[in-house]
Amino acid sequence: MKTRFQLFLIFSLYCACSAPKNPSLSTIDHQVDSLLSMMTLEEKIGQMNQYNGFWDVTGPAPAEGDASLKYENLRKGLVGSMLNITGVEEVRKVQKIAVEETRLGIPLLIGFDMIHGMKTMSPIPLAEAASWDMEAIEKSSQIGAREAAAMGINWTFAPMVDIGRDARWGRVMEGAGEDTYLVSQIAKARVRGYQGENLSDPLTLAACVKHFAGYGFSESGRDYNTVEVSRVTLHQVILPPFKAALDAGARTVMNSFNDLDGVPATGNSYLQREILKGKWSFGGLVVSDWGSIGEMVNHRVAKDGKEAAKMAVLAGSDMDMESYLYVSHLKELVESGQVKESLIDDAVRRILRLKVELGLFDNPYLYCDEQREQEIVGSEEHVAGVLEMAKKSIVLLKNEQNLLPLKKSGLNIAVIGALAEDKDSPLGSWRGEADPNSAISVLEGLIEYPDNKYNFAKGADLVLEQPVFLKEVKLNTTDRSGFAQAIQAARSADIVIAVMGENGFQSGEARSRSEIKLPGLQQELLEELVKVNEKIILVSMSGRPLDLSWEDEHLPAILQVWHLGSQSGHAIAQVLYGDYNPSGKLPMSFPRNVGQLPLYYNQKSTGRPFNPGDDIVFWSHYSDVPNDALYPFGHGLSYTSFSYSDLRAEVLENQQVKIKVNLKNTGPREGEEVVQLYLHDHFSSLTRPVRELKGFQKISLQPGEVKSLEFLLGKEELGFFDGEGNLQVEPGEFTVMIGGSSKAELALKFEID
Ligand code: NOJ
Repeated sequence: MKTRFQLFLIFSLYCACSAPKNPSLSTIDHQVDSLLSMMTLEEKIGQMNQYNGFWDVTGPAPAEGDASLKYENLRKGLVGSMLNITGVEEVRKVQKIAVEETRLGIPLLIGFDMIHGMKTMSPIPLAEAASWDMEAIEKSSQIGAREAAAMGINWTFAPMVDIGRDARWGRVMEGAGEDTYLVSQIAKARVRGYQGENLSDPLTLAACVKHFAGYGFSESGRDYNTVEVSRVTLHQVILPPFKAALDAGARTVMNSFNDLDGVPATGNSYLQREILKGKWSFGGLVVSDWGSIGEMVNHRVAKDGKEAAKMAVLAGSDMDMESYLYVSHLKELVESGQVKESLIDDAVRRILRLKVELGLFDNPYLYCDEQREQEIVGSEEHVAGVLEMAKKSIVLLKNEQNLLPLKKSGLNIAVIGALAEDKDSPLGSWRGEADPNSAISVLEGLIEYPDNKYNFAKGADLVLEQPVFLKEVKLNTTDRSGFAQAIQAARSADIVIAVMGENGFQSGEARSRSEIKLPGLQQELLEELVKVNEKIILVSMSGRPLDLSWEDEHLPAILQVWHLGSQSGHAIAQVLYGDYNPSGKLPMSFPRNVGQLPLYYNQKSTGRPFNPGDDIVFWSHYSDVPNDALYPFGHGLSYTSFSYSDLRAEVLENQQVKIKVNLKNTGPREGEEVVQLYLHDHFSSLTRPVRELKGFQKISLQPGEVKSLEFLLGKEELGFFDGEGNLQVEPGEFTVMIGGSSKAELALKFEID
């Protein structure tokens, strides 16, 4: 048998000497075709096979998943990629087997869910979305990419661009919220951050935009549930962020667990062949979600694993993550004529192309450098970067009588709630390889301001035991033994900081909740605290919008801090003390109660809208709660204030409109405002939202300063997709609304021909 070096040499020489047969093929395609021509059918199918590593699992382990089979297949060249193996030492071990022990020595793609950091954790993606700061999000994604790449990873399963309209769904923490436009902009920023300018730079990763498609619409917010959406919603709301990420260069796509129009996404040709690889000409690779090929048997659309493998490959799923079905059945399916070998070739080309682009054929150990790993991971620069991102992600929801920011001296502060001392929860879900309990807690952040006195009283445990990724979180719902001490601390304090919300493992995959109030005994404790001290600032730490109606009614100030990552406590303290003026705006509506879900500001016009002056019941509403959010999409306060004026519109040629507006800082401090532009199309051939975000700019102003801002609206902003995915721009009247939230009131009409 030839050694890998002999074959690698043959391959390289072949590439160098032979001129492309088809001059239109790029050098990469030529290299890939050369290698493909040397591969047996079995080896090709092996490239389409992705195994989990040997320890952490991020899904149910399939019955076939024993480690010896993995090693055996790895040695036979029947594995194209592995996931959940991290650290140079471990990655090198498997890469060495692939490169030195298999016939062709093809290196592995090493995938991992680097979602918001690897060791140095950034805020969860939903929190980062609240910054509306694309440069900052790109930088934070880059930090994660650098650490992951330094730890041997060359492919991250991010960004998740699923639209999150239902806070019951735990995975909203992993996305960028409810709005298609905002999610699309963030998708682009993340792809730029992960992939950089050059994929073969050893500090960049291939991005994987997921989950294609519709997963965010899991019915009732229950993870892995079925999805019912119309083609119009698919094209208008769900698909644009994927297209945006691909236009930004994302090399890979992951499909999803849900069905769509009765066909699981993994076996859905409309999605993968017609739209993705057809209409959009996507040339990269599609990986299944964990076991999703096999799950088509559970969906009861495939009678067995073999049929599931066939459905998936026919529908354009190129790589099988952890189902073991391609490697078990594709050969037979090809040999019996049920699957054309050309389909296999197409999938393998996509996989090999990525390996070439990542530089793995030039150096299979490109991502395996111990010294780089030591220098990069946890560097001071990264720590400073995630702190900046954390501050930008905080949203001031409520601040009556300017209770915040706090005076830096002379205060006696009671700090209450188990999350105040929690060093683990701020790491959030999908925490990469972060060390447990490695975040800065709120208490640790506060004591950096030593001229106030802090009296900490937990009140009650939030959880009964330290949660883990794979298991259900066990909440404390009965032990109130710490209440008395907390009440006493509140009574004798000038001010109370109550740090409450969700444990870091209460959101994320498989963490749906049917009730989204503060979990456990926390609200009950707050109810006791307000009896003895009205000055309570709630620091709300969560991975999703919570139902904070009671808190809104009874507490004067609320700061939404999400799960902010490694530097959480420092960021929160700096905002509480006004060393950082909060500028975050909600990327998801906070509901008044769980019954409003799914809730999103850009609801469609109904046939029964509210008519001011009417007092009859026959309009689309609830009898017991208003229709709108408690805190709407785009909402977020600052320690300064802003005013908007002089809204102007200039209709240009070619269905373009220029919008101008003035923004003034009318308050006492320097601050940043996210100027949001919403559009309403007066009449259209399809029902359309009452308003839709179509532009935003984040602007910093000194006190008293005025800036004139300009937005250009073109076909993409003025038009909409029909059910076939065609962009329509219909002439007629529009209203533009500009302001600091989705409630923006400054409005102007214009008309386009
Ligand atoms: C299942 C999740 O849905 C997906 O997002 C993730 O990338 C894979 N597991 C791998 O961990």
